[in-house]
Amino acid sequence: MSWNPDQYDKFKYERTAPVLDVLSMLRIRPNVEVIDLGCGTGEHTKRLADLLPGSNVLGIDNSPEMLAQSMQYERHGLTYGLASIEEIEGDYDVIFSNAALHWCENHEQLFKKLWEHLLPGGQFLVQMPYNNDHYTHQLAYQLATVEFAEYFPQNDNNPTNRLGWMLPPEKYAEILYSLGGVELNVMVKVYPHVLENSDAMVEWTKGTLLVPYLSQLSPEIGTQFLDTYRELLRIRYPECPVFYGFKRVLLSAVKGRKHQKI
Ligand SMILES: C[S@@+](CC[C@H](N)C(=O)[O-])C[C@H]1O[C@@H](n2cnc3c(N)ncnc32)[C@H](O)[C@@H]1O
Repeated sequence: MSWNPDQYDKFKYERTAPVLDVLSMLRIRPNVEVIDLGCGTGEHTKRLADLLPGSNVLGIDNSPEMLAQSMQYERHGLTYGLASIEEIEGDYDVIFSNAALHWCENHEQLFKKLWEHLLPGGQFLVQMPYNNDHYTHQLAYQLATVEFAEYFPQNDNNPTNRLGWMLPPEKYAEILYSLGGVELNVMVKVYPHVLENSDAMVEWTKGTLLVPYLSQLSPEIGTQFLDTYRELLRIRYPECPVFYGFKRVLLSAVKGRKHQKI
C-alpha cells in the first residue's frame, strides 16, 4: 500500500482542525517520553513536541513515502522511525495518534497492547476518523464488493474489511475503563467541511480511504474504478459547493488504576 503525501496534504487545512481538538486535551508536562503512532509526514509530531518542552518525542510510521517528509523536523528530542504501530516498543508518558489507528485491526487487542506501553499516570490521546457510514465510504465498499468484486482478493488484504474495524464510541470508553483508564474523555465530533464540488470528495478519499483500494488494482482498472466512483458521487451530490460532514472520534484517558474487568 503506497501513500502519497502530496495527495494527503491537499486537505491539510481541513485535517488540522481535529488535531487541534485532540491536542487541546493534552496534559502539558515537561520532560516526558512520547510516541506518535502513524505520524505520517511528521508535522503534528512536531506540534506535539513543541507543547512538551524537554521531552523525547518519537514519531513512527510504516510508510517510507510519508516518513520521508518528516525528517525535516528532526531535532534534539524529536525523532522519527520506520516502524509499525502493532510492534510498538518502549514505555511512554504520552501515547498519541492522529488519524492512524483506524488503519489497524482488532482494536480491543491493539488498545490492550498499546496500554501496556503506557507508564502509570501516562496519557493515551487518540483521534480516528469515524465516517465509515458516509456515502463516500459506502460507495467505495459497494464498488469493491459488487461492480469491481472480481478485482479484489477475498482475503484479509481486501480493503473492504476495514469498514468493520472501528468500534462504537462507547466501546472505546469501556475498553479504556477496563484497562484502568481514568479521566476518560470519549467524544464524536462532526467536522463541517465545505468542498468545491463532489470531485473534491474524490480528491479527499484518494489521499486516505481509497489508498488500499487503488493499490489492489492495475492502473487501468484503477482508473475505471475512480471514474465510476467519481460519476456516482456527481449524481449523489450535484450541488456546488458541497457539504462534507466528516465524523471523528476523539479519545483521552490517563493510566490510573490497576486493570479492572467489566
Ligand atoms: C491518514 S495518515 C495520518 C498521518 C498523521 N498522523 C497526520 O495526522 O497527518 C495515516 C498514517 O498512518 C500510517 N499507518 C497506517 N497503518 C500503520 C501501521 N500499522 N503502522 C504504522 N503506521 C501506519 C500510514 O502510513 C499513514 O502515514
